[in-house]
Amino acid sequence: MALERTLSIIKPDAVAKNVIGEIYARFEKAGLKVVAAKQKQLSRAEAEGFYAVHKERPFFKALVDFMISGPVMIQVLQGENAVLKHRDLMGATNPKEAAPGTIRADFADSIDANAVHGSDAAETAAVEIAYFFASTEVHSR
Ligand code: PPS
Repeated sequence: MALERTLSIIKPDAVAKNVIGEIYARFEKAGLKVVAAKQKQLSRAEAEGFYAVHKERPFFKALVDFMISGPVMIQVLQGENAVLKHRDLMGATNPKEAAPGTIRADFADSIDANAVHGSDAAETAAVEIAYFFASTEVHSR
C-alpha cells in the first residue's frame, strides 16, 4: 500500500474542549504523520465552499454556522491507507453510532457537533487538501 494523504479538521467543538493534543496522539499512534497544520477561523464563504457538495441538504446552514462558530484545526495526515485509517479513528458521523474508543464516541456530543472531519476518498482528499494548503505548505518527511 502506497503512502496516502488525507485532510483532517478538528471542528470548533473539539478545539473548544482543548483536546487537539489528545486527537493528534491518536493519529500518531495509528501511524499517521501530521505533514501540514494550521489553526484557522473559517469565513462563511470558506465553509460554504468547503461543504458545497452538501449545499442542497437540510442541515447545510446549520453545518456552516457550526463550522464558523470558532476556530478549527486543519491538518494533512500522511501514512499507509491514510484515508480509511483516519475514518476508522473518527468513527461514525453520528457519535451515538460511533464505536467505543473512536474520536467521535469520546469527544463528540451530537451529529451537528461531531468533533472531526475526514476526507472520504483519496480523490476527495486531494481536492480538500488543495482547498486549504498550498503545495509548498505540505511536507513529506
Ligand atoms: S452523507 O449523508 O453520507 O452525505 O453524510 P456525511 O458525508 O457522513 O456527512 C455530511 C456532513 O454533514 C455533517 N452534518 C450532518 N450530516 C448528517 N445529518 C446532519 N443532521 C448533519 N449535521 C451536520 C456531517 O458531520 C458531515 O460533516 P463532515 O465534516 O464531512 O464530517
